[in-house]
Amino acid sequence: MEKKFKRTLVTSALPYANGPVHIGHLAGVYVPADIYVRYLRLKGEDVLFIGGSDEHGVPVTIRAKKEGCTPQDVVDRYHNIIKESFEGFGISFDVYSRTTSATHREVASDFFKKLYDEGKFVELESEQYYDEGEQQFLTDRNIKGECPRCHAADAYGDQCEKCGATLSPDELINPYNADSGNPLVKRKTTHWYLPLNDYQQWLEQWILNDHKEWRSNVYGQCKSWLDTGLKPRAVTRDLNWGIPVPVEGAEGKVLYVWFDAPIGYISNTKELLPDTWETWWKDEDTRLLHFIGKDNIVFHCIVFPSMLKAHGDYILPENVPSNEFLNLEDDKISTSRNWAVWLNEYLVDFPGKQDVLRYVLTANAPETKDNNFTWKDFQARNNNELVAVYGNFVNRALVLTKKYFDGKVPACGELTEYDKGIIDEFVNVKSEVEKLLDQFKFREAQKEAMNLARIGNRYLAETEPWKLAKSDLSRVATILNISLQLVANLAIAFEPFLPFSSKKLRGMLAMETFEWSSLGSLTLMAEGHELGEVGLLFEKIEDETIQAQLDRLERIKAENKAANYKANPIRANVEFDDFTKLDIRVGTVLECAKVPKASKLLQFKIDDGLEGRTIVSGIAAHFNPEELVGKQVCFVANLAPRTIRGIVSEGMILSAEDNEGKLSLLTVSPEAKPGSEVK
Ligand code: MF3
Ligand code: ZN
Repeated sequence: MEKKFKRTLVTSALPYANGPVHIGHLAGVYVPADIYVRYLRLKGEDVLFIGGSDEHGVPVTIRAKKEGCTPQDVVDRYHNIIKESFEGFGISFDVYSRTTSATHREVASDFFKKLYDEGKFVELESEQYYDEGEQQFLTDRNIKGECPRCHAADAYGDQCEKCGATLSPDELINPYNADSGNPLVKRKTTHWYLPLNDYQQWLEQWILNDHKEWRSNVYGQCKSWLDTGLKPRAVTRDLNWGIPVPVEGAEGKVLYVWFDAPIGYISNTKELLPDTWETWWKDEDTRLLHFIGKDNIVFHCIVFPSMLKAHGDYILPENVPSNEFLNLEDDKISTSRNWAVWLNEYLVDFPGKQDVLRYVLTANAPETKDNNFTWKDFQARNNNELVAVYGNFVNRALVLTKKYFDGKVPACGELTEYDKGIIDEFVNVKSEVEKLLDQFKFREAQKEAMNLARIGNRYLAETEPWKLAKSDLSRVATILNISLQLVANLAIAFEPFLPFSSKKLRGMLAMETFEWSSLGSLTLMAEGHELGEVGLLFEKIEDETIQAQLDRLERIKAENKAANYKANPIRANVEFDDFTKLDIRVGTVLECAKVPKASKLLQFKIDDGLEGRTIVSGIAAHFNPEELVGKQVCFVANLAPRTIRGIVSEGMILSAEDNEGKLSLLTVSPEAKPGSEVK
């Protein structure tokens, strides 16, 4: 028997405030959560939608150091950018707060204190790397050293980026502080651990037996963690950015970011509803749902529930709808590589087109597997679906009503069999969409809503009311009446998915009230009701617009490549005398042509300021011979002559080669006389 709840508390992962949010965040967490919340609100259910920024953790401190500002500066800046991006996309949080708020500090601190006082933690001493100069303990990521496998000089404490080996700081040879460069020593430190092993059995029962309905990716990850066997997890860190550990003698220690952040859901609820927040967190009639991305599964399904269980006063999540990852143009989205479509930039580049992105991200939602966002697909879905199907149907229905009935909903006459068939097709949409939304299948649900527009388009194409206006206006009235009912249904069905467009459409329909319960109704638009101003619901996106985005990504690719470029190491030293043995000269290219039947060879005739000479060079793949004629080049003049393909080559043309094999010819300015010596 499924339990009936009185209210639903929806949380969405608190994004780290160390960078702006991108399409991956939107697709994975915030759009699905928002669709779900809007749907429940439309149904008149009691629902609360909690969001906020996750402002602690090491990445914030690293960023602050890099930018020469304080961690608080960093999170202030990004919290605001993120908050505005979410507002821009209509993510309808009831509260969007932050983990540096006073309320959160108190709630998280009290949470820890209660568990501490009740002996729910184990205290363990361990040896950690310490920088005596900076007087600080270091996190894995802040430690560098020689890789024990490939001997790269700058492997991280958790991974060597050269050979890909997963490492622990203890394995590094000669570890040092990545920031200060100081060598590190081992020092004893004490931390508090949540003994997850004590919760193993309970978790097995609660997840593996009682929540078989969770998405298979979520269930599977939990099962694999549980099968491996849980171990105690440290919930404190030696760090100076975070919530101080509220225990005497714990100076210099803060709560681990993954301990405090999920408590942020509670704090933010309390900030919004100081008097009634407990109903949402402590009453068994509340259904708690966490919307997250797949890298957050263990924290929301295993760690946080164990914390809640240890605390004892709180309810547990009913479900944890988690998505896989979204890639961008077949490449993993990455903040550090700037490989993303940033939401704040999209809002500037595509004003008024928030719904287009919402639509595309839902249509491609990575619900069961990683998925890919491409700008071409974005354009195609806009032009072929939103414009050509949804927008087109709405426009035709409204414009025809304006034209033939002065913008007033005409009367519905007798229905034909065909009409009845069409109506049969669309009345079921409500239960279909509901069924899918209730199962968190947003992608299919949106498809189902889109089906209404497809049905409408087909209906108009089949009945061709524009051809009947002269002969049978009452038939036109019936067709348009049915069409307008369909349009009104679309405004409701799309409200959770495309809230901006639904609002626009309601304006065109002059539709004041709307409820989910009336979805499927044939009497939403009363006879004689006057429509509002008709405009376009969606607009075509042109190739140039898409090309501009693709160009931007190309530029980023090139920048990343350049940033990662490392020249080859310098070769062993030579004596000065050895160098002066080489006679390098400037020469003017008089002739240059491909050597017949030798695809790699070019034959040069060079003016060397003396008798002139012939040089054969294996660089045909890199240069166009005609373009070299007249150029001032450099060549080794005293290289012993060699015969190549029957041609005597007297020297060697010099060019610069990067470590990817790309050549650039070494040229000198035209004033240099042929035969000048290069020294
Ligand atoms: N900041 C985390 C991330 O972006 C998510 C934190 S979710 C919370 O992966 F539960 F901790 F709030
Ligand atoms: Zn290595």
